[in-house]
Amino acid sequence: MPSIENKNVLVTGGAGFIGSHLCDELLQRNANKVVCVDNFFLGKNENLNNASKHENFILYRDDARSYNLMQLIIENEKIEVVFNLATIPLNYSFFNPSDAYLVNIEIAHNLLALLKNNSFKTLIHVSSSEAFGTAKYSPMDENHPIDPTTPYAAGKVSADLMIQSFWKLFDLDISILRPFNNFGPRQNAEGVLAAIIPASIRKILNGEKPILEGDGLQSRDFIYVADTVRGIILGYENENSRKKIINLGTGIAITIKDLLDGISQIMNYTGGYEIKPERKSDVKKLCANINLAKELLNFKPEFSIIDGLKLTLDWYLNNKNL
Ligand SMILES: NC(=O)c1ccc[n+]([C@@H]2O[C@H](COP(=O)([O-])OP(=O)(O)OC[C@H]3O[C@@H](n4cnc5c(N)ncnc54)[C@H](O)[C@@H]3O)[C@@H](O)[C@H]2O)c1
Repeated sequence: MPSIENKNVLVTGGAGFIGSHLCDELLQRNANKVVCVDNFFLGKNENLNNASKHENFILYRDDARSYNLMQLIIENEKIEVVFNLATIPLNYSFFNPSDAYLVNIEIAHNLLALLKNNSFKTLIHVSSSEAFGTAKYSPMDENHPIDPTTPYAAGKVSADLMIQSFWKLFDLDISILRPFNNFGPRQNAEGVLAAIIPASIRKILNGEKPILEGDGLQSRDFIYVADTVRGIILGYENENSRKKIINLGTGIAITIKDLLDGISQIMNYTGGYEIKPERKSDVKKLCANINLAKELLNFKPEFSIIDGLKLTLDWYLNNKNL
């Protein structure tokens, strides 16, 4: 069973929300070297406050879409494992659909070409439950039909398909983890690219009403970021995950209205929501079947949504200026 200890690892998108937690955990587990490649499209220096104190952490403020650059970094740093998390968020699909789509494919393609050339040994790729589109049955296992409803989701699916074709043809050492909706400290809370949980917490802290789009009956399976990071690392450590796509979620779906009510309750807020029209192409329901992750990775989420929300709120209260 491979271990992170003493490995030279690279995280694309390592200055982002999930990627920065992954960098922290890899350092905690005594990786020999954790190399982060992030172009800071949405990444933040502050997300790397912990990691950058560590002597085994190296930051490249660069674009993972450049093949030459990725080759240089991977070969110079003698990288053994790449965790691929770099992406541009779903909401960006509304403003620049082509880039939201292409970034996923270009980065995956670079990594596949380098893996095929033996520049590194193992690729752990992070997909997204958005690949599925709205649940046709629930909970959704890995065989659920693929039906992306945004260019972001289509880009994630295309990257997954390209990766699967490479592992079939070239017998490469790759696992794909497919997380459902994540939340926790460091998730982007600002502007039009913000995710619902940090955006709502930020609004309430600023004395504004959180926004409810549509009827609020859309539902999601929210997984706390520490659980996702553990699942991603388990994906590396368990070689029986190779050449497979594995869901990471909790198996419990909650409506957006119930989520906002829960956040309001935890924050002692009674001011209600600002109702906006339903977002175009919004997925109606996502809920993970995590039997495969349980079976292959011995994965079990450890944080309930309430515990996760309390930890998240504490973080935003202590980091109001970020
Ligand atoms: N957040 C979620 O709910 C969620 C759910 C399922 C899957 N995922 C997947 O997890 C991964 C991480 O998501 P996140 O929520 O941390 O997103 P994020 O936006 O916080 O992080 C992505 C990072 O990638 C960086 N990036 C973008 N383009 C880049 C490029 N060309 N070169 C280098 N870096 C680049 C950004 O600057 C950012 O730091 C993504 O692959 C995403 O699809 C996220």
